[in-house]
Amino acid sequence: MTKIAVCGKGGSGKSSTVVLLANGLRERGYSVLVVDSDESNPGLYRLLGFEKRPDPLLDLVGGKKKVFATLKKKPSGNILTQEEIRTQDIPPQYMVERNGIRLVCVGKILQSLEGCACPMGALNREFLKRLVLHENEVVLIDMEAGIEHFGRGIEQNVDSVIAVTEPSFDSLELAEKIHTLAREVGVRDSWALLNNVRSNDLASELRAGLEGKGIPVIGSIGYETEVFRAGLEGRPISSDDVSGDIGSILDQLL
Ligand SMILES: Nc1ncnc2c1ncn2[C@@H]1O[C@H](COP(=O)(O)OP(=O)(O)OP(=O)(O)O)[C@@H](O)[C@H]1O
Ligand SMILES: [Mg+2]
Repeated sequence: MTKIAVCGKGGSGKSSTVVLLANGLRERGYSVLVVDSDESNPGLYRLLGFEKRPDPLLDLVGGKKKVFATLKKKPSGNILTQEEIRTQDIPPQYMVERNGIRLVCVGKILQSLEGCACPMGALNREFLKRLVLHENEVVLIDMEAGIEHFGRGIEQNVDSVIAVTEPSFDSLELAEKIHTLAREVGVRDSWALLNNVRSNDLASELRAGLEGKGIPVIGSIGYETEVFRAGLEGRPISSDDVSGDIGSILDQLL
């Protein structure tokens, strides 16, 4: 149905937001696929309540060195070389599932001197391009921090971009940049989502500033103790204890 990239500055709350949105979408009856495309941070699966991370899709194409060659091949026995990929065809080793939320992981940097992360970017781009969704399926992509992924063309294959924006000068500036880049690649919807905002007054001030620059703000999440504790302890975020605009954010997203 729709593919949503969750972007933003390092530590702004991308992964936590992905989990809150995934849980909220699930509660509304959507089938959710989360794509962990952060090649550095390991723990998204914990925040989603999984006991282990799925094997990386990178392994499915024979590792980093073989990504480009494999993806160019005509459809072979390998699902990632198909022109159309459907979630249900992904082998269980590469996709974990729990309470209607599925998780795949593109790949992680494991060793020093193993080379750059470009192959992961290319794989992510091709995977998202070829992924065909059914009617009530939503894909949430937990992006790596910053904007390098725009340079790799990943956002060409998503419908919406959310820039998770914490109250800092750099984060606000990055939200503006992300909005511009998203527009440039023709993403249908691009929003900022305020996170970790400790008062309604501050939320209103930041919203007015962003909207004054033509950046729509999809909602605001405050400082949530439950999100903080889950992040500290590496355990699932329980969305029941989180207030904020999640409901209205989901209304606008869909
Ligand atoms: N709304 C919130 N309330 C309280 N703590 C939060 C909130 N959002 C995120 N945090 C905390 O801030 C830290 C960073 O959050 P998170 O890992 O979700 O950010 P990120 O943007 O994914 O980071 P990275 O760029 O490293 O991937 C974590 O410790 C998390 O628990
Ligand atoms: Mg993260």
